[in-house]
Amino acid sequence: MAQIHIRNSGVRLESEQEVSSFLEEQGVLYEHWPTEKLPDHLREKFVLTDAEKEEILTVYQEEIESLARRKGYVEWDIVALSEATPNLDELLKKFENVHVHTEDEVRAITAGNGIFTIKGNEETGYFDVELTAGDVISVPVNTPHFFTLMENRKVVAVRLFIDPSGWVAHPYHDPQFTA
Ligand SMILES: [Fe+2]
Repeated sequence: MAQIHIRNSGVRLESEQEVSSFLEEQGVLYEHWPTEKLPDHLREKFVLTDAEKEEILTVYQEEIESLARRKGYVEWDIVALSEATPNLDELLKKFENVHVHTEDEVRAITAGNGIFTIKGNEETGYFDVELTAGDVISVPVNTPHFFTLMENRKVVAVRLFIDPSGWVAHPYHDPQFTA
């Protein structure tokens, strides 16, 4: 279950109802995939072989295809990050810059955790969405955001694309953003 931290006010939203309606208000798609579908041997595995990545995509094929049909995604893959990822710190430093894309950025967390920091409406400002396994989120097109890991520094997620070239990050310089 995702939780929200609104940076300007310090408010935290922790109940499913509050989180869902907040994200809906902000135009952010938020859904769940059933975590019990993931076989035990993949639940705490953050270094994955190609076969294991394929296995996760097969396990969630129905959910992936449903989302793809509704939102127009044509390609998907698995991203896995952990302390075992070469140059993790450098990678995170690169991630942690506010940017936009010309298509929405969708992630379905299948293991571990992640945070999307997203620029909300004028009144709300930036908020953090702390994600756990089963959370599916889509940052809308042209919405300033960045992704990072939580303290456990590990995540496995399905990424879906309309066109992988749409995923190029365009830096967004925002005087209103303070880390
Ligand atoms: Fe992004």
